[in-house]
Order: sequence, then C-alpha cells, then structure tokens
Amino acid sequence: MKEKIQALLQEVQNLTASNKDEVEQLRVKYLSKKGEISQLFLDFKNVAGEEKRVVGQMLNELKNLTQDKLNEMKSVYENQAATSNKIDLSRTESPIEFGTRHPLSIVKNEIIEIFSRLGFTVAEGPEIEDDWHVFGALNFPPEHPARDMQDTFFIEKNPDILLRTHTSSVQSHVMTTQKPPIRVLCPGRVYRNEAISYRAHCFFHQVEGLYIDKNVSFADLKQALLYFAKEMFGEETQIRLRPSYFPFTEPSAEMDISCDLCGGKGCNFCKHTGWVEILGCGMVDPAVLEACGIDSKVYSGYAFGMGVERIANLKFRCKDLRMFSENDLRFLKQFDSAL
Ligand code: PHE
Repeated sequence: MKEKIQALLQEVQNLTASNKDEVEQLRVKYLSKKGEISQLFLDFKNVAGEEKRVVGQMLNELKNLTQDKLNEMKSVYENQAATSNKIDLSRTESPIEFGTRHPLSIVKNEIIEIFSRLGFTVAEGPEIEDDWHVFGALNFPPEHPARDMQDTFFIEKNPDILLRTHTSSVQSHVMTTQKPPIRVLCPGRVYRNEAISYRAHCFFHQVEGLYIDKNVSFADLKQALLYFAKEMFGEETQIRLRPSYFPFTEPSAEMDISCDLCGGKGCNFCKHTGWVEILGCGMVDPAVLEACGIDSKVYSGYAFGMGVERIANLKFRCKDLRMFSENDLRFLKQFDSAL
C-alpha cells in the first residue's frame, strides 16, 4: 500500500494537461468514486492497525496534492477561456498610425513663427467676401483685371459676393476695426479662376503681413524681409527687390532670394538667373489707409504677401503643385520630420 501511494505521489506531481477536458479526465482517473485514490481509501480498512496512522497521513497528503494540482491546471484553462472569449470593442482592427502635419501647415507655421519674433500676431477672416474688402478698400479701380470673371470666382446671384483672391481682404477688416499700431499676419486659403496644372491651382494659400505705425519706412520693410529670408532659407541667403505694381502699395516691389540650389550661379531651377521670386510687397498706399479710416498723414505702413505653396516648393522641391491637395498618404508622409 505504501509503495502504491508513493508511486501515485510521484505520478501526480508530474501531471500535465493541455486543455480543460484533459483536466477533467484526470480528475475522474484519480478522484472520482471509482478513481485510483478513492480506491485506496476503500482499501484502507485492510491496513494493519499499527500502520493505519502513517498510511492515513500519506493517503490524505496524496489526495490533497492531487486536488491542488488539478485545481491549478483547471484555473489556467479557465482564465485563458475568459480572455479569449471577451471581445474588446474599443480596440481598432490594426494599430493606429499617427498622422503627420501637412507640408503646407508646416511651412505656414514656420512663416508665422519667424514673423512672430518681430511682434506679428495672426488675424483671420472669411473666405467668402464682399467686393469692398477684397478690392474696393484696397484701391482696385473698377476696371482692374483682377475683378474680371477670368480671375475671380463670383457668386452668380450677387456679384458683390466672391471668393477672396488674396488674404489682403483680412487686412481691410483689421484696418477698419483696429487702431494703429497694427502688426498682423493673415494666413489662409485664396481662390483664383486658373486652369489647374502642375504649376497653378484654382485655390492656394497665402500668408500676408501688414505693419502700420508712425514713421514706418521702406527700410523697415526690407529689414523684416531680409530677416525672414535668412531664417527661412539659411543665413547665406541674399534678397533683391525689383520694382513692381500692386494697386494697394506704393512703391511696390517683388522680392527674389538667391537660388539656394546653385548658390546664385545659375541653374535650371532659377532659369539661369541665380534668383527666385518669393513674394510681393510695398508701402501701403495712403489711399488704402484713408479708405479704412486711418490718417495717412500720421501713419504709414508696409505690407507683403507670399504663396505658401511657392515657399513649400522651394523648401521641398515638389515638382507638381497638385500633390499638395491630393491627400496621397505616400506623398504626405514624407514631411513627417521635415522641419
Ligand atoms: N496681395 C498680393 C497678391 O495676392 C500680394 C501682396 C501683398 C503684394 C501685400 C504686396 C503687398 O498677389
């Protein structure tokens, strides 16, 4: 009897099962009424008197060990079943990928960041505008070609309502509602009736700037733009201002930066001139200040405006402007850590 118990103790210690059913089979084998251990308890009455205490202890030990072992194995499979049956509906099917900033947002934010160091704050306005804020206040004569249907999207029922063609319209709002000194940046989307191609779209993005105070001079404008160019494109960047024309600035200029691809020597990108155009600027025309209720004898100001796509193209060398609005993830993902 003792040997039998010893052998079973060994056996039970090494028991394994690979699922719940197997655990149950083992329970039947050892502990059910007809199981091996129960059988030993029945045989116990035949054990000689002086042996009863020792054998009894051994039997109880075997029974407890078996019970513990089976319980332990059972609980493993019960826990497994519990976790695999529970469906977590809050989980996504596949791991969530973090989005990345759009290249135009990256560039727009950098432009804002650079000018904010010069004290500029951001002003925003509506994309659907009236004629006065887009053209009238900004000294556009009634026959100006920008007012033409070819360039501007008008609302058919009311030609006074249109999609803004530049964010200078926000400057009209600021000038009529705020008193100088004014120092604002106007970022936003603008619309022009252009045929869509790799180099033009019917909408694009601008950041325009306006500074009005006493004694603001063209030198202030030039210095601010030089600072911007060096911050945006690198310390070695040079600028050049070419005379130009805008109805709302006088004098007006267009600004080029030295081509950073060839270092100014001339290449295909800069059409062998060594320079690439990046923005329009000028001193705010006194007629604009007056139209917006600002005394042009006391105050003067400068304004500038640039296309975000243009700056992004210079930074990222994107060959087709349409990529910026197609939302192709393969394109957008490249700018993850671009700046
Ligand atoms: N509004 C002009 C444009 O859209 C840019 C500009 C802004 C030029 C301010 C001069 C001064 O092209």
